[in-house]
Amino acid sequence: MTTTAMRLGNIQRVYLYIVGGVLTLSGIIWVYLHHFVRVEGEFGLLHHPLEPLLLKVHGISAALMLIGFGSVLPGHIPRAWALNRNIATGSIFFTVMTVLSLSGYFLYYLSGESIRDFTSILHWVLGLGFPVLAGIHIWRGYVSRRTGQWPHE
Ligand code: HEM
Ligand code: HEM
Repeated sequence: MTTTAMRLGNIQRVYLYIVGGVLTLSGIIWVYLHHFVRVEGEFGLLHHPLEPLLLKVHGISAALMLIGFGSVLPGHIPRAWALNRNIATGSIFFTVMTVLSLSGYFLYYLSGESIRDFTSILHWVLGLGFPVLAGIHIWRGYVSRRTGQWPHE
C-alpha cells in the first residue's frame, strides 16, 4: 500500500479547497443575509436581493462538492483507515459531509413547514461547523504523520 495513494493529488486537493470554500462562503453569507439583513422595498422590508443568487451558487458548488467527496472514497479514506491515521476526525468529517449532503438535497424537496425549518437549521448549523471541522481534520492529518500513528514514516 503506497502513501501517495492515500494522500490527495494536487488537483484533487486544490479542487476540494476551492469548491469547499465557495460552498461554505455562499452558505454563510446566505445565513447572514437571510437572518440578519432586510432591505427597504416599495412595499416594506424585503429579503436581500442577493439571496437567490447565493443559493444558486451554493447548489452548484454542492453538486461539485459531491464529486470531490466521491473522489476521496476509493483512495484517501480506505488507505488512511488501513494505516490507522486520522481516523477520529476523518470519521466525524465523513459523517458531517454525509448529513450535509442528505439534508441539503432534502431542502430542495421538503414542503412541510416545520420539517423544512428543522432540516434548514440542522443543515446550516452543521454547515457553520464544516470549515472548523475541515481545518481540524487537515491539521490532525498532518500531525498524524509524525505522532507514531503511522509506522511508515
Ligand atoms: C474516515 C475518513 C477519513 C480518514 C481516515 C482521513 C484521513 C486523513 C489523513 C491521514 C490525512 C493526512 C494526509 C497526509 O498526511 O498527507 C488527511 C488529510 C486530508 N483529508 Fe482526510 N480522511 C478522511 C475523510 C476525509 C474526507 C471525507 C475528506 C473530504 C471530502 C477529506 C479531505 C482531506 C483533506 C483535504 C486533507 C488535507 C490533505 C492535503 O491538503 O493534502 N478527508 N485525511
Ligand atoms: C457537502 C456539503 C453541502 C451540501 C451537499 C449542501 C447542499 C445544499 C443544498 C442542495 C441546498 C438547497 C439549495 C436550494 O434550495 O437552492 C442547501 C441549502 C443551504 N445550505 Fe448547504 N450544502 C453543503 C454545505 C453547506 C455549508 C458548509 C453551509 C454553511 C453554512 C451550508 C449552508 C446552507 C444554507 C444556509 C442553505 C439554505 C437553507 C434554506 O434554504 O433554508 N451548506 N445546501
